[in-house]
Amino acid sequence: MASEGPRALVAGNWKMNGSVAMLKEPRLLAAMLKDVKLKADVMVCPPAVLMRRVKSILKGSKIKLGGQDCHWAASGAHTGDVSAEMLKEAGCSAVIVGHSERRTNHGETDAIVQKKAKACQRAGLTAIICIGETLDERKAGSTLAVVTRQLKGSLPEGSVAANTVIAYEPVWAIGTGLTPTTAEVAEVHALIRAELAGLMGGEGAQTRILYGGSVKPSNAAELMGQPNVNGALVGGASLKAADFLGIIKVYA
Ligand code: 13P
Repeated sequence: MASEGPRALVAGNWKMNGSVAMLKEPRLLAAMLKDVKLKADVMVCPPAVLMRRVKSILKGSKIKLGGQDCHWAASGAHTGDVSAEMLKEAGCSAVIVGHSERRTNHGETDAIVQKKAKACQRAGLTAIICIGETLDERKAGSTLAVVTRQLKGSLPEGSVAANTVIAYEPVWAIGTGLTPTTAEVAEVHALIRAELAGLMGGEGAQTRILYGGSVKPSNAAELMGQPNVNGALVGGASLKAADFLGIIKVYA
């Protein structure tokens, strides 16, 4: 049973995976979801170069399109980057910002993530802001402090529920097959919900908080059933339509 709260979102983050051959998967997913009534929004976030093709495959389906990252500027001399405005024009409705892989591999700080989230909101997109502790931080007992600091530092002022999603992704659970216990997930999500109330007022209760990190069909119902879990951000299991569907079906 999925938990109560704002309408859920199940988003698939392809990361740096995908090819023209792999486009059969979203095609398959769109066909499989055609007649399924869902209590959740579904989104795929492919690499930017595949965006146009995925957009045309998803045309007429209920699956939305999202980006994986953006620059904070609208345009300019930023070789290799894409802007939120470009992603909007390519058909995206949301962009993931502050993923731990960006924070680690590209040195993104909370301040940078906040600028990127602001850029998404400026472009009329939803910012999916990722936060989460490392294994060392969890072992040191600082999970709640880290998550609070990241949330406060990464959320732009004036954010509202319609343009903001928070994704709690413990770094040690990403791609490892490990997940926190349901009690640990519930504890962090309750903290995020309480912090959001302070930061966003009434909008905080309506803001979706996703869990991410080794979500798969076999654990999705249990994880999504925790209070204040309003969907999932899925990596590996979003690459195969059948696996992704197994997660989405929690909301069927
Ligand atoms: P996995 O589902 O592969 O653990 O990845 C989670 C993630 O990082 C989604 O953004």
